[in-house]
Amino acid sequence: MIPIGPEDRVFILTGAGISAESGLPTFRGMNGIWRTYRVEEVASPVAWARDPKLVWEFYSERRRRHHTVQPNPGHYALARLEEEMGDRFFLCTQNVDRLHEMAGSRRVVHMHGKIFQSRCERGCGRPPFDDDWTLENGAEIPLCACGGKIRPHICWFGETPFEMERIGTALENCTVFMAVGTSGVVEPAASFVRYARARPKNVRTCYIGPEEPSNRAFFDQVFPGPSGEVLPRLFAAEKSATDLHG
Ligand code: OAD
Repeated sequence: MIPIGPEDRVFILTGAGISAESGLPTFRGMNGIWRTYRVEEVASPVAWARDPKLVWEFYSERRRRHHTVQPNPGHYALARLEEEMGDRFFLCTQNVDRLHEMAGSRRVVHMHGKIFQSRCERGCGRPPFDDDWTLENGAEIPLCACGGKIRPHICWFGETPFEMERIGTALENCTVFMAVGTSGVVEPAASFVRYARARPKNVRTCYIGPEEPSNRAFFDQVFPGPSGEVLPRLFAAEKSATDLHG
């Protein structure tokens, strides 16, 4: 168990694995999304320039799928921890789904964007907006008032993730770093653990998931297993051993 004391600040990084038990596929591994689609054909600025309808087909399918899923005990465990720790808790997700919010998490930083948001491709000044539009047969892609096409508010390969400044500050300040359900291969998220450890304080790091991540060497501890089982157990044990309220 990683002890959390009243002075601790916890940084949590989640990846596709935390939503796997809810029925959303991960990206890599068996049945992973990138086994069916080529990332450069649906999730890159080049793909958008070449075939925006194919890109929208991909994200429309993911929007439709999201309407059928619910949070799992892993999402709920993190929402409870946020409630107990308040602003000593920072949740950063690489996921574009909204399962953390559906479980009750209030302050979620979506570094790769949100599946139910869109924006103008031209960056014309109109801010990203909530949107559940899907591309149906024969439809045209909606246009912004400026004439640009509306695109998903998702960070594609080759683009800069969102909210990196806030994330950097939280990494500098954390004393406990936990990664959950992420393979540790996609940058910059894969380097967060190394960055957190580079601070001159004694940061404890752990990973939760059924397989060891590629950046395993930077974690002090691994709690093996599905996060929907491990997280509730971990925090129940945590709570009985120490008062998270401080
Ligand atoms: P990956 O698909 O690379 O990794 C998913 C991880 O979840 C793997 O390490 C699995 O072992 C683990 N896993 C599977 N089932 C689990 C469970 N029940 N509980 C916990 N862990 C489980 O997904 P990410 O690391 O999130 O980016 O991928 C990072 C980024 O790459 C994504 O945000 C996406 C992708 O390309 C963009 O689309 C921009």
